[in-house]
Amino acid sequence: MTIIDGKKVAADIRAELKEKVAGLKKEYGKVPGLVTIIVGDNPASKVYVNMKYKACEEIGMNPKIERMPENIPENELLELIEKYNGDENYHGILVQLPLPGHISEDKVIETISPEKDVDGFHPINVGKLLIGQDTFEPCTPAGIVELLKRYKIETKGKHVVVVGRSNIVGKPVAVMLLQKKEGANAIVTVCHSAAANLSDYTKSADILIAAIGRPDFIGGDMVKDNVVVIDVGINRVDVPETKKGYRLVGDVNFEEVSPKASFITPVPGGVGPMTIAMLLSNTYKSFVKSLN
Ligand code: GUN
Repeated sequence: MTIIDGKKVAADIRAELKEKVAGLKKEYGKVPGLVTIIVGDNPASKVYVNMKYKACEEIGMNPKIERMPENIPENELLELIEKYNGDENYHGILVQLPLPGHISEDKVIETISPEKDVDGFHPINVGKLLIGQDTFEPCTPAGIVELLKRYKIETKGKHVVVVGRSNIVGKPVAVMLLQKKEGANAIVTVCHSAAANLSDYTKSADILIAAIGRPDFIGGDMVKDNVVVIDVGINRVDVPETKKGYRLVGDVNFEEVSPKASFITPVPGGVGPMTIAMLLSNTYKSFVKSLN
């Protein structure tokens, strides 16, 4: 059994990008810029936004955080996005989700210029992804595909079972692995909480992608021997006696599943670090496209 070291792969990708960014600076005298907009003070969102800022800074890109109050009117948020759509110093615009209830996430996503949509959430980019055109691939799915590639895990003709159907992970990763191209070409099943007997599906997986958001949901009796397991879950489970008061666990019961697996991602240190690496990669891509 091999534990997939997402932390290491993400660090390698960041190092590769750092060199490329230095090259851009030399050649063009400017670097990719990423603005992250955060509304309100969701603690998890704050942590993610700060991590994105630091990661950007460390590879020589130009990061900015726009912090907006919880009660910002929707139109003001949309105007802020429009401002950055027209600002040539920023090649990526990311609005951290979730947003407060009075703001339409759909409207926000649709206001971001598709050319700067480094999350890959704009309907135009989602459409391009579906039909196999070049676009920004959503960061977590892109991170999953990249991990499979770098660990030389064959996907062609393999049965990939995705548990979870979110727009951020489940649906896009299914579409990406289905494409007729290198690093994909899989037979893909997408299942979710409405399945009468989920094990019927998960047990037939060569590659199981768990993106449900429920701690330890996939047990050892739900997988076959030699399965490749990609655990996308980042669940906070209360542990009052520790300093933080919680620990992070995945959607997969690691103790039960890992002895049966050929490859498995840990939580933390698996898919999580890859998401930010792919965000940086998308921001780099946006910059390069803006040169043409
Ligand atoms: N909230 C949780 N994951 C994400 C993500 O990938 N992008 C954005 N914008 N918000 C998120």
